[in-house]
Amino acid sequence: MIHSLGYVGFGSPRYEQWERYGTEVLGCQYAGRGSDDAVRLRIDDFNYRIAVHPSERDEVAYIGWTTVDEQAFTALSGHLTACGVQATAASADLLEERQVAALVWFVDPWGNRHEVSWGKFSDPSTFNSPRGIAKFVTGSQGLGHIVLLVPDVLEADAYFTKVLGLRLSDRIVSDIFNLRFYHCNGRHHTLALGEVPNMTGFNHLMLEVANFDDLGKTIDLVNREDTPVDMMLNLGRHTNDLMTSIYISTPSSFQIEYGYGGFIIDDADWVAPTYTATGIWGHSRSELFLQSPPGILNPFKPDDSQ
Ligand SMILES: [Fe+2]
Repeated sequence: MIHSLGYVGFGSPRYEQWERYGTEVLGCQYAGRGSDDAVRLRIDDFNYRIAVHPSERDEVAYIGWTTVDEQAFTALSGHLTACGVQATAASADLLEERQVAALVWFVDPWGNRHEVSWGKFSDPSTFNSPRGIAKFVTGSQGLGHIVLLVPDVLEADAYFTKVLGLRLSDRIVSDIFNLRFYHCNGRHHTLALGEVPNMTGFNHLMLEVANFDDLGKTIDLVNREDTPVDMMLNLGRHTNDLMTSIYISTPSSFQIEYGYGGFIIDDADWVAPTYTATGIWGHSRSELFLQSPPGILNPFKPDDSQ
């Protein structure tokens, strides 16, 4: 099945701002532009894992899932067909654009485009963070995690566990939250689903640094008055993945969670619990957070599905 989140693409009218934001704030390495002028960013030796394309509105352009190898890719392609998912094989141009060996894509019932691929191009020992970030946690845990907003979390649960084979890690329920978290490797969650009635959307992308000081230095940077970034949630630690993190604004309408020390799940003895709060401590909300929508948010139109 799916091994990890390999890459993610966004669309934004302010895509050009991501060149400075991605490098000077996040510490990603600039990886040039795509054929449509998309800003490409690296966080490890893979050629790029984040792309922000020109677009009239903020959107998630595609979510790139990776299989271990060609055999797993072929098996997953067959599984998609068996699930009744209409997947399209990539053209040669798309393979060149994404820099992968093979790829199929499909659209989920909430309008999100998913791409499944294997064999992403990589240049060993070439990652170099312009901010001196020692290392982003990737490898067997993939790019990081994403949070999708869906109108009905149980319907989305049925879809993603069946179609992508994601496994439930746990859930957080309260009078204001209905969240479910899913893993496909050791990372506590690669996908989380948050319920927002009648809406679809995207809340945040999480990037994890391997060095605690790199999180601390990022907090110092964000708090500087000349940094064009706002703190959304102050430093805190989550109940479920134990990530110590901040949430910051981006040039687009979603947030980046910048974290350290995420929990690793061992499927051999994992039993999914329920929590009633998202945090153990911290993550206090800024004024801007309280005034802002929870990311990219669109009315749910069932016609968006394939
Ligand atoms: Fe997160």
